[in-house]
Amino acid sequence: MFKAEVYVERRDKLRKLLHSGIIVILGNNESPMNYKSNTYKFRQDSNFLYFFGLDYPGYAGVIDIEEGTDCLYGDDVDIDDIIWMGPQPSMIEQAVGIGIKSVHPFKEIFSKLTASIRRGRRIHFLPPYRAENVLLLESLLGVRNEQLANYVSKDLIKAVAALRSVKEKCEIEEIEHACEIGYNMHVTAMKMCRPGVMEHDIAGFIEGIALGANGQVSFPVILSQNAQTLHNHDHSQKLTRGRVMLTDAGAETASHYASDFTRTIPVDGVFTQKQKDIYNIVLAANNQAIKMAKPGITYLSVHLEAARIIAQGLSDLGLMKGDIEAAVKNGAHALFFPHGLGHMMGMDVHDMEDLGENYVGYDDETQRSTQFGTASLRMGRKLKQGFVITVEPGIYFIPALIEKWKSEKINHSFINFDKVSEYLDFGGVRLEDDILITENGCRLLGKKRIPITVEEVEATMNE
Ligand code: GLY
Ligand code: MN
Ligand code: MN
Repeated sequence: MFKAEVYVERRDKLRKLLHSGIIVILGNNESPMNYKSNTYKFRQDSNFLYFFGLDYPGYAGVIDIEEGTDCLYGDDVDIDDIIWMGPQPSMIEQAVGIGIKSVHPFKEIFSKLTASIRRGRRIHFLPPYRAENVLLLESLLGVRNEQLANYVSKDLIKAVAALRSVKEKCEIEEIEHACEIGYNMHVTAMKMCRPGVMEHDIAGFIEGIALGANGQVSFPVILSQNAQTLHNHDHSQKLTRGRVMLTDAGAETASHYASDFTRTIPVDGVFTQKQKDIYNIVLAANNQAIKMAKPGITYLSVHLEAARIIAQGLSDLGLMKGDIEAAVKNGAHALFFPHGLGHMMGMDVHDMEDLGENYVGYDDETQRSTQFGTASLRMGRKLKQGFVITVEPGIYFIPALIEKWKSEKINHSFINFDKVSEYLDFGGVRLEDDILITENGCRLLGKKRIPITVEEVEATMNE
């Protein structure tokens, strides 16, 4: 948690961006796994954390724009809670820590909102993503769940996205810390990887590193020798000679800031020439994207440059053919690179995705493509100083997708399907780093870059 002034200032900025009405920011509640008292690890809502900082269930924050007041709604624990959970800070004590003087029992939020609605005041709320908060909003606002989307405040979404997109110094320090934990996770995975080891041995161990650093993973670990499956959470395979192992994993700090890195390494500890050829294309795309990222450039144009590098590299290997510019224009690269170059990262690994990807990654100036592959780019808009984003190009050989394109003759003038058939058991390569957009360019986040060149990876694996 940061100092009280940080939260006071954020709420003041939000008030100024919205001009009138009442802003309701709902916290999260405990979520049962299989019965009520056996819960998943509690994760507070990130918007609530941003403006109200408190990492406890059962709270809501209300910002009254015209009155200029901030109120916290929630209930103090009772003696039964104290017996099972130990003593907890009182609501008043917690409120002081976030610069709030006005604390009310949770049920009073109903009368506050009812009175405001009666007076015709605008209630600003964000899109709910948990069923409990959908139900709560239904009864708070008297709007049926299927109608809620029509009442969500676009003005609030845009204001929150504008504030959270530009990271404060204290947030960057937290993200750096998450990156250091991520470094340890990935270097450990490199050292553990060898033929005969089970994927879950490594996945479980690196998740333990995130937990042991007083945090958790920022998303379920993706780790598999079936690297062609973009988000593979199946860790049931024994690592086999000749395969590559892809690890996409990051940490979330105790203050809930994320890192998100991907490395792809040869199970044998040494790359074959065929693996090296594909790997170095992805590395070139990653490095070029980092070179290009700076304020004023659209991330869509950086994505398309990464796509060109991939198409050129695959063409040099005989997997693609024809004019590179035309191939990328027609989306032919997406057979191998079917996802986006990256996304915002902060308190959520896909930062603010709950607000709607297009509000975060696009604007009036940069519209989202509808073409397969480029449509998956979560972040396309112009970059600004203070943005934290991922850079994650990849090349994959997805047999089902290759079969579909081949049989339906999709982009067949740009793909050499005979050559591609030699790679059906290759898997895939993704290389992901996290960057901060600076005044004139960008810099990698984390003290040291996780080993990434062929030489660095092989040296780390064989230390
Ligand atoms: N870790 C998921 C992603 O890279 O988007
Ligand atoms: Mn990732
Ligand atoms: Mn990512």
